[in-house]
Amino acid sequence: MTQATNPANPAKAPTNTPAKAAQSAFRAQLLTFNGDPAHSPDAAVFHEDGLLIVEDGHVAAAGAYAALASRLAPGTQVHEMRDKLIVPGFIDTHIHFPQTDMIASPAPGLLPWLDTYTFPTERRFTDMAYARDTASFFIDELLACGTTTALVYCTVHKESADALFTESEARNLRMVAGKVLMDRNCPEFLRDTAQSGYDDSAELIGRWHNRGRQMYALTPRFAPTSTEAQLEACGMLARQHPDVFIQSHVAENLDEVKWVAGLFPGHRSYLDIYDHYGLLRRRAVYGHCIHFDEEDRKRMAQTGAVASHCPTSNLFLGSGLFDFDKADAAGMPIALATDVGGGTSFSMLQTMNEAHKVARLGGHHLTATRMFYLATAGAAEVLDLADKVGTLKPNSEADFVVLDPQATPLLARRTARTESLEELLFAFALLGDDRAVYETYAAGKRVHRRDDVRQHAPRTAKIAA
Ligand code: GUN
Ligand code: ZN
Repeated sequence: MTQATNPANPAKAPTNTPAKAAQSAFRAQLLTFNGDPAHSPDAAVFHEDGLLIVEDGHVAAAGAYAALASRLAPGTQVHEMRDKLIVPGFIDTHIHFPQTDMIASPAPGLLPWLDTYTFPTERRFTDMAYARDTASFFIDELLACGTTTALVYCTVHKESADALFTESEARNLRMVAGKVLMDRNCPEFLRDTAQSGYDDSAELIGRWHNRGRQMYALTPRFAPTSTEAQLEACGMLARQHPDVFIQSHVAENLDEVKWVAGLFPGHRSYLDIYDHYGLLRRRAVYGHCIHFDEEDRKRMAQTGAVASHCPTSNLFLGSGLFDFDKADAAGMPIALATDVGGGTSFSMLQTMNEAHKVARLGGHHLTATRMFYLATAGAAEVLDLADKVGTLKPNSEADFVVLDPQATPLLARRTARTESLEELLFAFALLGDDRAVYETYAAGKRVHRRDDVRQHAPRTAKIAA
C-alpha cells in the first residue's frame, strides 16, 4: 500500500479555518450490500475502483472513485490499495471468549466435551488477571480475522464480562456480551442462583449496556443448566430491558434434545421452553437450531428471533446439519457464527467455507455473495444494528476489513483467474482465513495490520507420558 495526498484536490489546507473532523480515504475495490442477494439480484454493490471516505469514525461516503474524488477535503491522505477489497467488518453472532484456550479439544460430542474441557476451563475465570489476558488475546484474534462485532458468551462470573467489555471499550469496538446464567446441571463451582444471576445481570446492564459501543446480552447458557426460576428471572429482565440482546443455545445435539425433553415435560419442543419464558423476540439469538420442526421455524420467523448457524462447530462436534432450504422457506432470520471453542476457527471466511459445504450436503447452493451478506449487512439487519454497522452506508460506524486477494500464492493464482464477483468471493471464502485479512478498521481507526508481528504465548503445555 502507498499513501498519497488527494490527487484530485491537491491544494494546501488553509491555515486559519476552523478545525474540521479529520478525513481519511481509501481507494480500493469496495463491496457492500443493500439487501439479501437471495431475494434481490442487485443487492450486492461493488465498485472495482472505489473510494471510501471516513470522517469522525463514521463513513462519510463510499462509491465509485470517479464520482467521489471531488469530495475529498484538501490535504486528505488517500490510502492507495486498489489491489485490495474492502468489505464491512464481519459480525460473528455466537462465540465463547473463555473457550479460547481450549479450542480444538477432542471429545465424542457436545455433552462430554462440555464436561471434560469446557467447564474446567471456564472455572479459571475467577482469576481476573487470566480473564483480562484471555479477553485481550481473544479480541486480537477476532480483529486478525476481520471480525469487528461479536455476540460473546462470558462465564458465569460477572468479572469475566467486565474483562471482555473493558478490552473491547479500550479498542472502541462494537461488541455484545453477557455473563452466563447457569444454576443447575453443571459443577458446583460454576453455579449462580436465580437471584444472584438476576442481580449480576442487572448490574452489568447498568454498567455496560449502551456505554459507548458496548451492548449487553442476557445469556442463559441453555435450558438444561437453568432452573425454571432462573428462566423466569431472565424473562423478567428481558421485559424490563426491551433493547438488550438475549443469547442461548437450542436444538444443537440429539442427546441434548432428549435430555431437555425429560427436564421440561409438557413443552411442545425445546424452543417452546424459551418461548414460554418470553425469550423469543427481536435481538434474541439462538445458536445452532438444527433439530427443529416446522412449528419451531415458523415461531422464530414470527418473533424475529435469529438462528445463528455455526458450521465449524456442528461438524467438529458431529451435532448435525443446519437446513438452509427449510430455514429460508419459513422466513427464519439467519446469521453465521464461529462458536469457538466448539467451532474450530475464529475466521468468518473459514466459517463460510464450512457453511457452504453443510448447505451442499442438504442440497442447497449457498453462494459466496450471500455468505458475505450474512456475515455483514445481513447480521446487522437481524440484530437491529443496521443503522450502526454491517455496511458502508453514509453515517455508519466505519468498521471495515481490507482483504488481500494475493495473501497466499494459491489465493493469488486463483483470484487472478476469477471472472465474476461471485467467483472472487468464493475464492476468499474457500481458501481464505486470517492471512487474507490485510488490515482491520474499527470506528475509522486501524486496529489490526497483518504484517505487524504479534506476540505468541510461550509453550507451557505438558504432554502426559
Ligand atoms: N451448549 C451449552 N453450552 C455450550 C457451549 O459452550 N458450546 C456449544 N457449542 N454448545 C453449548
Ligand atoms: Zn456456543
